[in-house]
Amino acid sequence: MSSYPLTLHEYDVVVVGAGGAGLRATFGMAEKGLRTACLTKVFPTRSHTVAAQGGISAALGNMGEDDWRWHMYDTIKGSDWLGDQDAIEYMCREAIPAIIELEHQGVPFSRTATGKIYQRAFGGMTTKFGEGIAHRTCAAADRTGHAMLHTLYQQSLKHKAEFFVEYFALDLIMDGEGACRGVVAWNLDDGTLHVFRAHQVVLATGGYGRAYFSCTSAHTCTGDGGGMVARAGLPLQDMEFVQFHPTGIYGAGCLITEGVRGEGGYLTNSEGERFMERYAPSAKDLASRDVVSRSMTIEIREGRGVGPNKDHIHLNLQHLDPAIIHERLPGIAESAKIFAGVDVTKEPIPVLPTVHYNMGGIPTNVNTEVVNPTASDPNRIVPGLMAIGEAACVSVHGANRLGSNSLLDLVVFGRAAANQAAKTVTPGAPHKSLPKDYADKILARFDATRNASGKTTVADLRLKMQKNMQGHAAVFRTGDVMKEGADKMHQIFAERKDIKVSDRSLIWNSDLVEALELDNLMYNAVATIDAAVNRQESRGAHAREDFTERDDEKWLKHTVIWVDGAGKSQIAYRPVALHTLTNDVEPVPPKKRVY
Ligand code: FUM
Repeated sequence: MSSYPLTLHEYDVVVVGAGGAGLRATFGMAEKGLRTACLTKVFPTRSHTVAAQGGISAALGNMGEDDWRWHMYDTIKGSDWLGDQDAIEYMCREAIPAIIELEHQGVPFSRTATGKIYQRAFGGMTTKFGEGIAHRTCAAADRTGHAMLHTLYQQSLKHKAEFFVEYFALDLIMDGEGACRGVVAWNLDDGTLHVFRAHQVVLATGGYGRAYFSCTSAHTCTGDGGGMVARAGLPLQDMEFVQFHPTGIYGAGCLITEGVRGEGGYLTNSEGERFMERYAPSAKDLASRDVVSRSMTIEIREGRGVGPNKDHIHLNLQHLDPAIIHERLPGIAESAKIFAGVDVTKEPIPVLPTVHYNMGGIPTNVNTEVVNPTASDPNRIVPGLMAIGEAACVSVHGANRLGSNSLLDLVVFGRAAANQAAKTVTPGAPHKSLPKDYADKILARFDATRNASGKTTVADLRLKMQKNMQGHAAVFRTGDVMKEGADKMHQIFAERKDIKVSDRSLIWNSDLVEALELDNLMYNAVATIDAAVNRQESRGAHAREDFTERDDEKWLKHTVIWVDGAGKSQIAYRPVALHTLTNDVEPVPPKKRVY
């Protein structure tokens, strides 16, 4: 192995990732007096949170009566009862102060005529425990993520957090006792390698949408945290639950916000029928995403898709006042023009369910501490390691996330991570010493990838994985199809040994970055498809045609899955928290989910 000199940095806490969750944690930790570094592979305001459109949920009641308990009920129901109710209670209650805080920090929310934060309807968000439609999603036009990300970055700078921009985190430094002691990262700009020691490493690396062929996620969404965790011998949780957003632009995959339907837009089939009225008579186009995506897929399968190949659906907003579109949906009007050639004031947008969000991720408790369960202790904590945002599974989304609960998850649990770190880390405390060879394995993997001289290009292998996942772990699933996909996925995982990295440089080597990202994606993909084969029921986004019903007796439990370096997985389970955090609210017992 060539030698790679390491530059040592010592911090109290290190956050990996600078999206909404990472930045909220970063400035919160710096604000609390912890010496905080944030490592990010892209410039912070280019993180994928920037693409979030429709908004962030909180029961402010600005546009009609609302209550955080109704929000909590909706989220539990949306999760198909797989969400942990203690964490959901925490998120929905904390939503209100979290939004006020964002407002005070300067997020330019859209406003009502009386100057309050504008709130729109979103799927699955109701009043009075399912009776009416809630206007709960706080919006900055259809660029809410963009507005939030810039504000959170400004806060991080204000609180003097230190940024290491275009640093690619390679792996976690784990000690012999199973504690995390830091992270090794590669500076893409000058090719140097760095060790970041920290008392807490916070993984805020986002989702792994790019394991699929068609997704709304940025090219950077490669599950880097999940990859690092798996290589550290730690598990992932509920990876079988992958959300398809109903309205990705046909052919391009980019997002058209659910806010369109919240503002009165609706879906039609080739007969011009508003078919959601048949599938969800009361919520209609504002049913939860899994329900809408399945309904669209059935319409297409039964020959009622639109277009020459009858393979997509129409999203109509031509009936809306152009002034409303201009004011509240300017971004999607532009996207529809660029990516579908459609003038939304005159024609419908061609759309298709598209991979959008990973409900699964790195298991954590409500304080965002990473959990590595054993049979006797399902809540065993991994010292020194936290995870937040889409990278994590806390689990507030369970089997299906409600739209606009993601931005909320980022800020609420980003802040929870800061609070917890402030309790557990003493500023300036010395770092424990590590054995001499602590980084050898990490550097060996880096070196082997850099010098990989097989026959398969990274792009070819990635495409193989993406097509396999798209075809075998989709909106509807059956055991046979998934099993075939899992077998192929294991073969693809093994083919990593044959990859070719043509560029040996250490500076701006995109070939090497993509090879490392592909490695991370592979661990996530194997976990997803193996967990999906294993779960023999239908729940939320996991809709099996061979097990069509939810089975609470056997499957009201979290899947925990370890994937080793050979791609072999091992599955165990954790109980779902069916209890609340406080006595202020009753838990919601499982019942049939209808919209
Ligand atoms: O449709 C949207 O605007 C997406 C929001 C979300 O995923 O939370």
